[in-house]
Formats: sequence, C-alpha cells, structure tokens
Amino acid sequence: MTLSRREILTGAAGTAVGLAGIGAHPAVGSDAPQKKLAKNQIPFGAAVRGEPLLLDDAYRRALLKYCSIVVPEGALKWIETRPTPDRFDFAKADVIIDFAKANGIEPRGHTLVWYEALPPWTKQISSTGNAERALRFHIEQLVGRYRGVIRSWDVINEPIAEDEIGTENLRPSVWTSTLGERYIEIALRTAAATDPDAQLVINENDLAVSGAKYETRRVAFLQLLRRLKDKDVPLHAVGIQGHLRSDWQQDRDGFQRLLEGIKRLNLDILITEMDVIDQSLPGPETVRDILVAKLVYDFLQTVFEVIRPKSILTWGISDRYTWVPLWFKREDQLANRPLPLDDQMRPKPLLAVIDHFCTSPI
Ligand code: G3I
Repeated sequence: MTLSRREILTGAAGTAVGLAGIGAHPAVGSDAPQKKLAKNQIPFGAAVRGEPLLLDDAYRRALLKYCSIVVPEGALKWIETRPTPDRFDFAKADVIIDFAKANGIEPRGHTLVWYEALPPWTKQISSTGNAERALRFHIEQLVGRYRGVIRSWDVINEPIAEDEIGTENLRPSVWTSTLGERYIEIALRTAAATDPDAQLVINENDLAVSGAKYETRRVAFLQLLRRLKDKDVPLHAVGIQGHLRSDWQQDRDGFQRLLEGIKRLNLDILITEMDVIDQSLPGPETVRDILVAKLVYDFLQTVFEVIRPKSILTWGISDRYTWVPLWFKREDQLANRPLPLDDQMRPKPLLAVIDHFCTSPI
C-alpha cells in the first residue's frame, strides 16, 4: 500500500505544531507489514529527502524497490525541527516517516545531538543549566513523538574532534562548551528514559582512514565508548558512517582494532551513511563505477572480517540526490557518482557489492 501525494501532504501538513501540540506521531492508517527479508539477510536502506519523495515518482519507486530502512537526510535535525526555542516542526520529517510506515520500511532517526545544522537561536545557549534543559527537552520531544515508530536513533553524531584537542579529543560544540563530555551521557540517558526500547547509537565518520590523526581519533573514540560503558550509560550500537574518499587510504589494521574493541564492549555495528566521494577518480563512468564498487568492497570486507553489521545504509539511493557535490565537485565538471543507483535510477556495480554483503551467509 502506498500513500498518494495528497495523503502524504495532508498527513504532513497537519504535523507542523507548536509546543502545546507535540503529541505522538499521528497514526498513518494501518502501518504496512515490515518488508520480508531472507533469513539472516542484513537490511539495506538509504538516507531520504522529503521533497523529491513527494515530487519524483522514479525516486519513490527506487526507495520502495531497494530499501528496507530509510533515514531522513536532514528532516530530523535541529535546523529543520526547531524553528524557535518553543516551537517544533515535524512536517518534513513526517513526509518521510509516513512514507516508511505506509510501505513496511523501517525508519531510523538522525540525529538528536550534533555540532552542526543548529538553528541560530541555539547560539544563545550559554549556561550549563540552559544547555541541559534544551538538550533534554529536545530529545524528550523527538524520541517521545516517534516512540514505537523510530526504533533506532543516532543520538550523538560525530563526537570526536577532527584534530587533537584536550585529553578526550571531543569535537567543539555548544554542547561541549556548556556541558563538557557530560552532554553525551545526558543525551543517551534522556533518550533511554524516553523510549527504553529504542536502539541508541553513537555515529562517527572517517574511522577507517590511514594516518596518525585518524588513529588518534580511533583511539579517542574507543576510549569514549569504554568510559560510557564503564558508567553503564545506555548505548547499544556504533554507527560507522562510511563516507569513503577515493584519495584516502584505508588503515585496515587500525580500523579492525577499533572494530574488535567495539565488539568487546558488546556494541553492535551499523553502517549508517556509506557512499564514495569520487572526486579524484577517473572520469569515464564505467571505470569510475567499478572503482567506487571496489572501494566499498574493500571497506565492507574489512568490517565483515571482524563483525557483521546489523544494517547497511547509503547516504542517498541515487546520484540524482547526493550531498557530495556540495563539497567535492569534480574538476572535470562531471557529475559525482557516489551511490548505488545512477541519476536515472539504474543500478551500478556498487549495488551488487552491497547485495553480496547483505545476503552473505553468517
Ligand atoms: O534547504 C536549504 C535551501 O532552502 C537553501 O536554498 C540551500 C542553499 O543554502 O540550503 C538548503 O539547506 C541545505 C541542506 O543540506 C538541505 O539540502 C544546507 O545548506 C546544507 O548545509 C545541508 O547539508 C546537509 C549536511 O548534512 C548538513 O546538515 C547535507 O545535505 C547532508 O547530506 C549532510 O549529511 C551529513 C550527516 O548528517 C552527518 N554525517 C555527514 C553527512 C555529510 O555531510
């Protein structure tokens, strides 16, 4: 069963609400049964944008065909849900969540706490008390609204700094400047108290990259995870983003040491945002698509040698809608080709690689 654009729009239009109107996510008729997967098959999915979901039938059909999971690429971020300190706007998110639930696709939540994509008013958050209240309130409202609908959340996104900073290497943000590392525990405990059944995830980028700076980040990340588990902070999984750079080398040993450490902490692994930044690859599409697929094969092979991910998501399903050219346009002006489907929704070798790992035997 799929929703018509009118039904999706109507459902969404009713969900831009003020503080008083928060309430639970409106039921979308009878949810469709979850898509069936083969035994032990790893669910695959993609980040989704609401506007093309409404306007681009080929995109919608591709999501319906290939995805068992979807995650809003931006619609659940503070910048989209929090126009003011006391108003919430779920209209964009509900377009995607309603689509997912109406089609038996599992929605993920991204992201409750990040240093980026914050509305301007958050710059006024200056005291410890204000920061803690703002953080708890935001998480209670979002996790509470989608309780039982979104069952896996990126609670913390990218907590580790790009470059060494202080002892814990925490990335600077309004949250670290007001609460220090405590922001992470506050966020996780608030999410767990709001929905005890939700899978709580810390999501991080560039964890497989070769180089001293990246090894420092891997060590700092694992130490953070250990500190949280030592304090019994509720945390269930690590999101490995997987934005692979064609001009970067993979540190297989360093990455597998991290994966082994995560496994020893009894944390699951999700591949949450996989794609290939193909800026430095050769121009010809056939060649580039094979090199993209090979990079992903090597990355997933490295992961699977240590731990079997619980899900694999790419950061978009089609080259028609990707963030990559925002920052990584090619000098030859050719379009980037980072995702499993090309801009005409045709499968590329990358899709076959993903299918190989998702259907690989245990
Ligand atoms: O919607 C506005 C539009 O009205 C305006 O005209 C346009 C130009 O300013 O900007 C549009 O907003 C953009 C938004 O994406 C929607 O397309 C923002 O500028 C742009 O900063 C935003 O970028 C997103 C970025 O996160 C920051 O939120 C990317 O699409 C999104 O792919 C990217 O995703 C992140 C993950 O959340 C975390 N991991 C890394 C990943 C890639 O950076």
